[in-house]
Amino acid sequence: MFVCLLLTALVADAFWASSSSVSSAYRSVASIWVLEKPNSNKYVEGEHGRVLSATFADLSAPELDWEQMDSAPVPRLDGYSVQINDLLYVFVGYRNLDNVHSHIDVFNLSENKWSDRFDTPREMANSHLGVATDGRFVYIVSGQKGPQCRTAITLSYSLDTKTKQWSSLPRLPAPRYAPATQLWRGRLHVMGGSKENRHTPGVEHWSIAVKDGRALEKEWRSEVPIPRGGPHRGCVVVHDKLFVIGGQEGDFMPKPNSPIFKCSRRKEVVYGDVYMLDGSMKWQTLPLMPKPNSHIECAWAVVNNSIIIAGGTTEKHPQTKRMMLVGEVFQFHLDSLSWSVIGKLPYRVKTALVGYWDGWLYFTSGQRDRGPDNPQPQKVIGETWRTKLHLS
Ligand SMILES: *[C@@H]1O[C@H](CO)[C@@H](O)[C@H](O)[C@H]1NC(C)=O
Ligand SMILES: *[C@@H]1O[C@H](CO)[C@@H](O)[C@H](O)[C@H]1NC(C)=O
Repeated sequence: MFVCLLLTALVADAFWASSSSVSSAYRSVASIWVLEKPNSNKYVEGEHGRVLSATFADLSAPELDWEQMDSAPVPRLDGYSVQINDLLYVFVGYRNLDNVHSHIDVFNLSENKWSDRFDTPREMANSHLGVATDGRFVYIVSGQKGPQCRTAITLSYSLDTKTKQWSSLPRLPAPRYAPATQLWRGRLHVMGGSKENRHTPGVEHWSIAVKDGRALEKEWRSEVPIPRGGPHRGCVVVHDKLFVIGGQEGDFMPKPNSPIFKCSRRKEVVYGDVYMLDGSMKWQTLPLMPKPNSHIECAWAVVNNSIIIAGGTTEKHPQTKRMMLVGEVFQFHLDSLSWSVIGKLPYRVKTALVGYWDGWLYFTSGQRDRGPDNPQPQKVIGETWRTKLHLS
């Protein structure tokens, strides 16, 4: 067991090979360098002199010892998850751009095993959902139906995780891609997301009263719009306050007239804004994340009076214009309303699905980077990892 753990730690270390081994071998030299060239690691020699390195957006962060667990039964990008006690329910997502899942895989965090699998309703969306749970029922709102950059639908559901029965909820007033979604004060709140064309940020905010998987009202109610719209944000309710964290404006759009709704890239602005709603129903603006961060809708866990967030995507590289993934673990302290960077993941990853159990922080699935020196997205993964968390 010990050997196994040690090996895992070594392997995990190797993922950051160029940053960790180089930095430990040259630590004494590096510390002298740092005095002379504070940003030396942000620049590399290029054809035309010093250019911004691909990894300039990485923040310095402590190493964490990651242990690899059993991979999810399928690789999954843009999946969604909720944790209920020791079970992490992992929903739908893309296997690749041309294939989407329509089932749920369940990971038991006590025995560290993928222990169950069941189907989602045939008409339910396959990615870009809004999801929230009350600890038994899961609410699933709107989202994209089908692969590539297909249409979003308004159909919404609830799942009773005890009986695995599905029910319908009233349709959302308009389709949304990846809206921020949470249960708060007896109502299911849905905010932002992208509008029908997949790109235009929505700022609308709707809610509906729900209980035990049923809507108590026939229609969604309009609420105070969110100051900034867009998809792929973290949305967390804790201490009776609703937080919306990070996100982006704009997203890939279907190519006009493409019969398969082929995704084509459009301008995106990733941001690190944090908004909070309390009983006054007025949005408050809180301190920005340590860097712009998106694709984190299920990449968070609430631990010891703080919100932990793993990975994501940040602003594209200013010179190469490539998408860049995030490899840090962030902590938002709910008492001081401030951020810290508490560690590094085994690699950079977007749409990681996070759980926390018995002192361990877990993540599974998403899309990882091309390697320590290349933060561009590459492989869609089902890998599952955990690390023992020690918060201050
Ligand atoms: C998870 O696995 C543990 C150990 O086998 C078991 O005791 C527990 O009941 C499982 N959790 C659920 C919710 O089934
Ligand atoms: C959370 O707080 C408790 C009590 O102070 C402490 O024992 C525990 O180690 C903390 N958890 C983490 C993950 O740091």
